[in-house]
Amino acid sequence: MKKLIVANFKMNTTPSEFKAYAMTLATKAKGSKNNIVVCPPYTHLCVAKEILSGSKVEYGAQNISDEENGALTGEISANMIKDLGAEYVIIGHSERRTKFKENDKLINRKIKTALANGLKVVLCVGESMQTRAAKQALTFVRKQLDDDLKGIYENELESVVIAYEPIWAIGSGKNVTSKDIQKMVEAIKKEIEYLYSDKASKKISIIYGGGVTLINYKKVLSLEFLNGALIGGTCLDVDDFTVIAKENY
Ligand code: PGA
Repeated sequence: MKKLIVANFKMNTTPSEFKAYAMTLATKAKGSKNNIVVCPPYTHLCVAKEILSGSKVEYGAQNISDEENGALTGEISANMIKDLGAEYVIIGHSERRTKFKENDKLINRKIKTALANGLKVVLCVGESMQTRAAKQALTFVRKQLDDDLKGIYENELESVVIAYEPIWAIGSGKNVTSKDIQKMVEAIKKEIEYLYSDKASKKISIIYGGGVTLINYKKVLSLEFLNGALIGGTCLDVDDFTVIAKENY
């Protein structure tokens, strides 16, 4: 099955380092059956355009402003990244939600802005350990979806991928089981059915992120109810990332 493999560089690498990375990845990824997307820092997108245009590898950003333009020092808009050939944007990553205090209202506006500019959205949702311990994980994530997707039309969901990233598993993959992922995927599908339709719930793409490494990627990506993976730490080594991106699942 063809999977979506998304690399989240977070705030790592320089543009020069990324150039070498992108050249290697573009060459090595040839012939891969999967959809491969790299999301480096904004400063690398010019390099991505130069190296990855016309290759098998698509690229995107890790964030955008909710506004189109204006007096917003330091912000980057959807049409700026689109102009550089970005196809995707990650929205609502837990690091943005917790460290930068992004709430669901802002995330909802960012999704609308991204879609209005023709970008595909990787919407991250996921619960903290505390929420999980309180047995509220499914309810919490369903509420996130409810708020984040408010006012998004069913036909626009084609451009939205849901990334389930339990916060407690990011950077470690600690103790997350296939059963945990399956339960959450089912809850996400139920919520999409409730918010939209049975058809929408069957069509929605759901990927998993949080501690996917060379050790566990086969197990995660062979789960037939998952459409792919969002990979942080392990994506930084181009050889490791290529192994995951090239596999037939
Ligand atoms: P990780 O990060 O693969 O290092 O756990 C995933 C993410 O935060 O998107």
